[in-house]
Amino acid sequence: MPAPNLTPEMISLLSRLRELSATVPSLDALQKAMVMVIARELPHYNWTGFYMLDPADPQTLILGAFVGEPTPHVRIPVNEGICGAAAASGETVVVDDVNADPRYLFCSIRTKSEIVVPIRAHGQVVGEIDIDSHTPAAFTEADRAFLEEAARIVGAWIEKHVTNQ
Ligand code: SME
Repeated sequence: MPAPNLTPEMISLLSRLRELSATVPSLDALQKAMVMVIARELPHYNWTGFYMLDPADPQTLILGAFVGEPTPHVRIPVNEGICGAAAASGETVVVDDVNADPRYLFCSIRTKSEIVVPIRAHGQVVGEIDIDSHTPAAFTEADRAFLEEAARIVGAWIEKHVTNQ
């Protein structure tokens, strides 16, 4: 069940993401569709993307589907960055002011706040959803609940369709 603090827009968006997850032919197709839909519907999400752990090197995240400015961070070790912190801890990380966080890996001068939500499959972290905003402290408890549910949709897709996890 969605958390009670989700906005009606987020509840409807999650329904669309669940529908997408039932019809897409691949994980990449799911992630591409998700970033497009999410970025279009939530205007304070100025960079929306996936990082997935490299199956050949689970200590490294690899950039996947994203919408937003190109980033130099196409591979991120799990001991670096806000992205690495979320993957290493398995916990959502919310940073209200990226410039005040020494872990922050610079992507855009316009980015002011960031949220990173781990994706789990079979109980293990397999990747994450990363969102940057041009607005300081843009991410509320509703954003966290929305993105954690979106991450569960991706994790459930992997559990159902990917056999070598
Ligand atoms: N800022 C992230 C790096 C990824 S870019 O924001 C897309 C970090 O600190 O890990």
